[in-house]
Amino acid sequence: MTTLTDTLKRRRQQLAQLVDRPIVLWSGGYSSRNFPANTFPFRASSHFLYFAGLPLENAAIRLEAGKLTLFVAEASPTSALWHGASPTRDELAATIAADAAYPLSELKTQIEGAATIAVQDPLTRQEQSRWLNRAIASSKSPQGVDLELTEAIVRLRLTHDDAALAEMRKAAAVTVEAHRAGMAATSNANLEADIRGAMEQVIIANNMTCAYSSIVTVYGEVLHNDRYDHPVRSGDLLLADVGAETSTGWASDVTRTWPVSGKFSPTQRDLYNVVLAAHDACIAKIRPGVEYRDIHLLACQTIAQGLVDLGILKGQPADLVEMDAHALFFPHGVGHLLGLDVHDMEDLGDLAGYELGRTRSQRFGLGYLRLDRPLKSGMVVTIEPGFYQVPAILQDPNHRETYQHVVNWDRLAEFSDVRGIRIEDDVLVTETGAEVLTADLPTERGAIEHLVQP
Ligand code: GLY
Ligand code: MN
Ligand code: MN
Repeated sequence: MTTLTDTLKRRRQQLAQLVDRPIVLWSGGYSSRNFPANTFPFRASSHFLYFAGLPLENAAIRLEAGKLTLFVAEASPTSALWHGASPTRDELAATIAADAAYPLSELKTQIEGAATIAVQDPLTRQEQSRWLNRAIASSKSPQGVDLELTEAIVRLRLTHDDAALAEMRKAAAVTVEAHRAGMAATSNANLEADIRGAMEQVIIANNMTCAYSSIVTVYGEVLHNDRYDHPVRSGDLLLADVGAETSTGWASDVTRTWPVSGKFSPTQRDLYNVVLAAHDACIAKIRPGVEYRDIHLLACQTIAQGLVDLGILKGQPADLVEMDAHALFFPHGVGHLLGLDVHDMEDLGDLAGYELGRTRSQRFGLGYLRLDRPLKSGMVVTIEPGFYQVPAILQDPNHRETYQHVVNWDRLAEFSDVRGIRIEDDVLVTETGAEVLTADLPTERGAIEHLVQP
C-alpha cells in the first residue's frame, strides 16, 4: 500500500526532474478579523500542501533534488496555554517525511537563488520578498525562475495521483451527503439559511470545511450569491452550490437545483431538462484528447437547441452559438479544473487553465471559460451548465438590440418561475472516458423530487 509519505516523496522527485534549482514554498499565516487573536480560519497555500501534505501555519519548505527541508517555529509556552500542546518540529518532520527540519529563522541561510510562488496573504508575501531579497510578482504573472517553477507545478498538479483522488473521493462523498441533507431539510425550511445549515452541518460533522462560500439561494441567477436570508416559498427553485474540502485541502464542487415544493412546475421541468441534457451530453464526451473548449461549445449547442425547441430562441442552434445568443442564458464557462483549490490553481491566472499560447476569448459566450486544454487522463474537471434569467443581461439595451430577432421575449416571459438552474458534477478523466466522482447524487428530475418530498 502506498503511504502518504511515499506520495509526498514521489511528488518531490517529480518536481526535481522538472526544476534544477532550490525552491522555497511558504504555507502562509493567519489573517486577523477584528483583533490579532481573533483570526479567520487558516488555509495553507495549496502549492505548499501539495508537497508538504500538512496544513502547517507560518512554515516554509525548501525543495531541492527531491529532498525536503522543513522550516517552522516551535509553539511557544504561551501558545500551548491557549491552543494546547503542538507536535514538535521533529515530529512534524517525521510525519511529512522531511529530510531535515530547522527553525523558520534559519531559512535565511538556505534561500539563495530559490524560486518561489507568491502566496495570497499579503503579510507572508512581504516576508517572501524580504527573505529572498527581491521583488516577487503576483502569482498570476511570475517572472524568471518563478515562472519556470510555476510551469513545472502546473504540469504536476494538472493530473492527480491516487492519494489525491482518494481525498477527492472523500470530499465528494461528504458533499453528496450534504446535498441529500439539504433536499431533505427543504420542506421544513423557512429561509435559505435553514437549508444551508442542514448542508454545512454534514460537512462540519465529517470534520471537513467548505471548499468555498456556499451558494444556497432561491435567486440562482445571482451567480455567486452570498446571502441566505430570503424566505423559501413553494413555487421557488432552490439552487445549492456546496462542496466539502478534506483536512488536507482537497475539494469537491457540486450544484443541484430543486423545487421547494418537491414538484417542478411544467416550465421549471422543461428548462431543467434542457440543462440536464447539456450536462449529460458533456459528460458523455469526456475522454483524453478531447478539447475542453469543445465540451463547453457542446453545452452551448445543447442549451441553444433546447431553447429553440421550447420556442424561447429562434434559428439554427449552431448559428445561435456562433452569435453567442446562448450566453444570454448561460453566460459562464461549463466548468474548470478541480483539485486542492475549487478552481484549481486559479491563483496562477490562466497559466494552469489555458494551454501555452492560448488566451481568453473576448467573445460574450467564451470569455468566462476557465479551462482551454485538451483533457488528459487523471484530470478532474467540473461540468456545470446552467440556465439563468439575469436582469442585468436580459435588460441590457445592447443585448436587446443584438438579439432582438432571435429571442421570443413573450415566450420567455412564460418561464418567469425559473430564475436560475445549474447542475454541477465533478468528473475524473480516465484512460478510456470519464468517472463522475459525485454520481451518487441523482440529477434526474424524478429522483430529485423524491429526495425533496417529505
Ligand atoms: N462553486 C463555484 C463554482 O462552481 O465554480
Ligand atoms: Mn464549479
Ligand atoms: Mn460550484
